[in-house]
Amino acid sequence: MGGEPRVQAPPASRYPDHLRDEVERYLQTLRFTTEPGISGLEQAMRYSLLAPGKRIRPVLALATADALGRSTSWVLPLAAAIELIHTYSLIHDDLPAIDNDDLRRGRATCHKAFGEDVAILAGDGLYAEAFRLLLYEQQGQAADVLAAAAALAAATGVQGMVGGQYLDVAGTAQSGAHGLQRLHELKTGRLIGASIECVLLLARATEPATINAYRNFAAELGVLFQIVDDILDVTGSEQALGKRQGSDERLGKRTYVTEFGLDRARELAAESHQRARAALTQAAPDGATQLEQITDFIATRTY
Ligand code: IPE
Ligand code: IPE
Ligand code: MG
Ligand code: MG
Ligand code: MG
Repeated sequence: MGGEPRVQAPPASRYPDHLRDEVERYLQTLRFTTEPGISGLEQAMRYSLLAPGKRIRPVLALATADALGRSTSWVLPLAAAIELIHTYSLIHDDLPAIDNDDLRRGRATCHKAFGEDVAILAGDGLYAEAFRLLLYEQQGQAADVLAAAAALAAATGVQGMVGGQYLDVAGTAQSGAHGLQRLHELKTGRLIGASIECVLLLARATEPATINAYRNFAAELGVLFQIVDDILDVTGSEQALGKRQGSDERLGKRTYVTEFGLDRARELAAESHQRARAALTQAAPDGATQLEQITDFIATRTY
C-alpha cells in the first residue's frame, strides 16, 4: 500500500499505450474547484482518478473514434467523463457497506485515505463533474452531445451499472448462467459498451449494419471483461492487480468461477474473446488495429 503508483504497463505490442498517455495527460489537467474550503474534496477525487488505472474505457473511446476516421483528441472530454464515472463506481464499490476493500489501483482505497464521508462525496462529485465535462467541453453538434450524454446516463443508471451493482449486493440476479450474464452485462458491460456507443452517437454513424456490429462487439467485450475480472479475483496476484485478490470469495459473490469452475470460466472467456473479435471484424471489415489490441488485452490481461 502507500502512495506509490504501480510501475506496470502492458507490452506495447498488446496495448495502444499512446492512447492511454493521451488520456492520462488530459485527466491530469482536470481541476474541479479553486475554493480553499472545498479543496479537500478535489484532493480525494484526484487521488482516486489519477491513481494508475488501466484506462480501458477511455482508450476504447479514443480507439473507436480512430476506427471511425475521427481524431482521438476530439473525444477526450467524453472519454474522460467515462473514466470519472468509472472511478466513482470503484470508490463506492470499495466502501465498507459494499465490498469493504482497502486496496485499489495499488493505493489505499479512497475511504481508507480520506474517510467514508469524504469518499462518498468524492464519488458523487466525480459523477456530476463527468456530465459537466461532457456537456460543456465536448465538441460536436448539440444534439449529438446530448444523445451521448443520454446514453451515458442510461448506461450508468438503474437499467445499467447501478442496477447491476444492486443485483450484485442484493443477490437478486436470477439463478443460472442467464442471471449471471445479466448481472455482468449491467454491472460492467453497460459502461464498457457506452465507451463505444457514445462515440458512434457523437460521430453520427448512421449505417445500421455498422452500428449493430459495433453494439455486438461492445456487448461482448463487456461480458468478456467481467469474466476475466472474476477469474483474476481467484488467480491474480495482489501486486499485479493493485487490489485484493480473493475479494469475491470473502464476500460470497456469485461469479463465473463459482458458477462454472475455473477451467470452464477460462473456456467461456476464450469463446467470448473469439466472438468479440468476430463482431469487431464485422464492424470494421478493413481492420481496427487499436480496438483489436484492446480486445486481446482484455482477454489475456493479468491485472
Ligand atoms: C475494475 O475495473 C472494476 C470492474 C468493473 C470489474 P478495471 O479493471 O478497469 O479497473 P482499473 O480502472 O484498471 O483500476
Ligand atoms: C465492480 O465490480 C463493478 C463496478 C464498480 C461497477 P467488482 O466488485 O467485481 O470490481 P472489483 O473486483 O472490486 O474491481
Ligand atoms: Mg463489487
Ligand atoms: Mg469490488
Ligand atoms: Mg471483481
